[in-house]
Order: sequence, then C-alpha cells, then structure tokens
Amino acid sequence: MGGKFITLEGIDGSGKSTQLRMLTGELRQLKYDILTTMEPGGTPLGRRLREAFLETEETVAPIAELLLFAADRAQHVEFLIKPALKENRIVISDRYADATYAYQGAGRGFSKEMVNQVIEIATGGLKPDLTLFFDLPVGKALKRTSKNDESDRKNNRMDTEESDFYVRVRDAYLELAERDSNRFRIINADQPVEVVHSDVVKIVTDFLGD
Ligand code: TMP
Repeated sequence: MGGKFITLEGIDGSGKSTQLRMLTGELRQLKYDILTTMEPGGTPLGRRLREAFLETEETVAPIAELLLFAADRAQHVEFLIKPALKENRIVISDRYADATYAYQGAGRGFSKEMVNQVIEIATGGLKPDLTLFFDLPVGKALKRTSKNDESDRKNNRMDTEESDFYVRVRDAYLELAERDSNRFRIINADQPVEVVHSDVVKIVTDFLGD
C-alpha cells in the first residue's frame, strides 16, 4: 500500500493533540497531502461510539470497553485509513492500537495475548510506519488535564483514573517503544510547546524525506 501512516501516542495531558494541530499546519505549508484523524472517533460511527462509551458517566465493563475501542478502530481502518493510504496520502492519527496495549492491557489488566488478538482482528495487521510517543512524568500530565478541565476539552471516563493507572500506561508505552524502536520515536513532551513542535517537525520531515 502507498502512503504513510503516522500515529501519535501519549498519556492524557501529554500535549499530543496540540502538537498534531501544529504539525499538520507545518506539513500542509510544505505541500504534503495530509489526512488527520483520531481514535476513538475518526468516523461518523466512531464519533457516536466515542460519545456512547467514553463521554459518559455510565459504568462500562472493561471487556466492553476493549471491544468498543476495537470496533471504532475496525471502522476507522476500513473506511478511512486504508482508502487514504491507497491514494498515497499521509495519514496522521491521534492514537491507534498502541493505546489499547497501554490502556486496556497495562491499565485495565487484560493479557497481552488477548489484547493482541483483538487488535489483530480489528486492524487486519495494519501497523503504523512511524509512531511518536509524547513522554512526560505522570504528575505533570495530570496537572495539565485538571487545568484543561476549565477549557473546552470534553471530559472522558479515563479522567477519573488515579495516577498509578497512568504510571502503568506510561510504562507500557515506554516498553513498546523499546521493543519496536524502529517504528517509535520518544519525544520529550516536558518542554515548551514550540520546542516540542520543532522536535516533532524534524522527526517527521526526516522520516518523510527518506
Ligand atoms: P483522547 O482524549 O486522546 O482522544 O483519548 C481518549 C481516551 O481514550 C484517552 O483517555 C485514551 C483512551 N483510549 C484507550 O483507553 N484505548 C484506546 O485504544 C484508545 C484509542 C484510547
């Protein structure tokens, strides 16, 4: 398949969504054909799922949560990501399957085997070409999400998790990055926004230039 598939990952409050906006602006100026998207919620069905199982106060069973993230992803891969890659576009997604390893695997405690199987079914084996992991200490990330609560960011059920949940999620991301070091780049997200932005632009333009 042509095109390039880039994903952004990080714990909540890592600043990746802001960085995605800034990166997209920069790449479009450089005349790259970019499709930006997100999980969950990259398709109309995904947006309805997101509202139904994430932006709710209803208790959601962990297994239902795992399968709903997978359902969102299956729809996303089939109707948005694969068609765009076929048209040789650059797809940049705010989260993808690594989030399920980190949040549902390490965070909720599902086994790696089970998470692997579910991801394989949902994606048909489609993996990103490049993944940026925005890393910063959990304490600092949590301070940012509580600040953001006063902004227009919609709260989601994950915001109520304690810091040890996020410590497990962050450690899992770091382990994934170490295991798959060809695909992952770890970004120090504990720096001023503009500095993070220039790190991101360098990594992505180097990658796309290859
Ligand atoms: P967002 O706020 O970055 O859009 O992410 C939504 C929340 O969903 C965030 O807390 C991470 C979580 N999430 C998972 O738990 N598993 C997943 O597979 C994905 C894509 C997101």
